[in-house]
Order: sequence, then C-alpha cells, then structure tokens
Amino acid sequence: MNKEFSKTNFLELKDHAYLMMSKAYAPYSKFQVGAALLAENKKMFGGCNVENAAYPEGTCAEAGAISAMVAGGGMIIKTMCVISQSEKIVSPCGGCRQKISEFSTEDTKVFLMNVKGDFKIFTVEDLLPFSFSEFDHLIKY
Ligand code: THU
Repeated sequence: MNKEFSKTNFLELKDHAYLMMSKAYAPYSKFQVGAALLAENKKMFGGCNVENAAYPEGTCAEAGAISAMVAGGGMIIKTMCVISQSEKIVSPCGGCRQKISEFSTEDTKVFLMNVKGDFKIFTVEDLLPFSFSEFDHLIKY
C-alpha cells in the first residue's frame, strides 16, 4: 500500500464493497458482486451487479462503480476493491478489465476479495497485460 492509502481507507473501501454486494440484483446467477473505488478526486464510489431477464444485458459491479465515478466527476481509479459471495477470490471478467484499464494508471491497485475478506492485490497490468488502448487500431496514413 502507498502512503496516501491508509489502513482506514482500506477498511472504508472494503466496507463499502461489502455494502455494494448486499445491494446486488442477481436473481438469475445468484452471484452477488460489489465493487468500491477511491478516485483521484478523493471520493468513494460503488456499484453492484444488476441483472435482467435477457442474461447478457446484465451489468457488472465494476462497471457500476466506474459509471458512478465518471458521473461524480472522477476520472482515475486510485484503488478498487471487488468482492463476491464466493469462497474463491473474485476475478473480473474481460470486459471489466478493459473498463478498469481505461480509468487507471500504473499506480492503480485492485484488491480482489472473497466473502471472508481474504484478498490479493493486483495492478491493472497484472489483470490486463498488453492491453488495447486508444487509436492502436487506426491505420496511420
Ligand atoms: N460479475 C460481476 O459483477 N463482476 C465480476 O467481476 C464477475 C462477474 C457478475 C456478472 C453476473 O451478474 C454475475 O456476476 C455472474 O457472472
């Protein structure tokens, strides 16, 4: 953990991720996920997964937290915590890794947790190495 990110910050972030998990709407998968993040504007944002009857149209917890951050004026994820109900540490889907990457720096830390609060810390490069980034796909004339 860096000096800006204290134990108090961590406990607040973890508590918020737990709270977010309790709000999840996941009647189809029955797999509730919560995400909380601290943004560069010093605000905390959260999200939960929200499913619907057309299964692929559901949204992930991380996506919800990122949307809340952008709507709340934040642009950079300093620290993110993701938790699920599983005994296994949750692993973000590919789409969420790309979304996290869009709003991260090399200092961004991602805490992935299980329901007991055991966690592993990842950088975004760990989660999404050699990532696709803006304009890589454009042919330069
Ligand atoms: N899910 C998340 O919200 N985040 C993840 O990191 C993994 C998966 C959700 C999507 C779906 O609502 C449920 O978990 C089962 O895949």
